[in-house]
Amino acid sequence: MEESAVDLLRRWARQQVEFGYPDPIVTRGGAAEAEPAAGKGGLDAVREELGDCARCPLHERRTHLVFGDGDPRAGILFVGEAPGADEDRIGRPFVGRSGQLLDKIFAAAGIRRDEVYITNVVKCRPPGNRDPEAEEIVTCLPFLMRQIECVRPELICCLGRFAAQTLLQRPDPLGRLRGRWHDWEGMRLLCTYHPSACLRNPQYKRPVWEDFQMLRDAYREIRPARPAE
Ligand code: URA
Repeated sequence: MEESAVDLLRRWARQQVEFGYPDPIVTRGGAAEAEPAAGKGGLDAVREELGDCARCPLHERRTHLVFGDGDPRAGILFVGEAPGADEDRIGRPFVGRSGQLLDKIFAAAGIRRDEVYITNVVKCRPPGNRDPEAEEIVTCLPFLMRQIECVRPELICCLGRFAAQTLLQRPDPLGRLRGRWHDWEGMRLLCTYHPSACLRNPQYKRPVWEDFQMLRDAYREIRPARPAE
């Protein structure tokens, strides 16, 4: 039977620990000397290490590697699935149709896009927008982990099942993971349907809005809204 991304991820994490590396899934509480630089400096170093990445076959057909963008000290970090055609062309996450819907949801929730950080599970576009494969997810995962460690958000929001299953290491359908807070390495993690799922299937709009209200309420507790200037 083919190994799922979650199985592969678990196997890889076990191997890393067996080989004497820190558990890659654990991003906090490691040895002090292993603490990477936080914020922009740390993210720049991660981007530099990714370089002109050719670690998996997705590099062959990409135009741009889409690293992520937003506030390097954001209180919320969003994790999508993978760049689409528009993101591949422009080099920024969520700039196509899904991104436009995400922008509308942010506006309705009173969250500015430039105050959050947005990235994806895989940084290069899978051809024809196919699902990312387990090996591709696992190859890219250390970079996502390091992005999270650099931003050190209080809240993480997984957009869609790939982000949710990868970070939570659980194969459960999204319907079972969404709508509640998960404790994730001392951070609070919420999962919701991907905006592209809402575009295909408007019945997901209501649960997504409920999830975003939870997210907004938690966010406003940690970062109260600034009065208009
Ligand atoms: N879908 C994603 O998951 N990420 C993007 O950046 C764009 C669309």
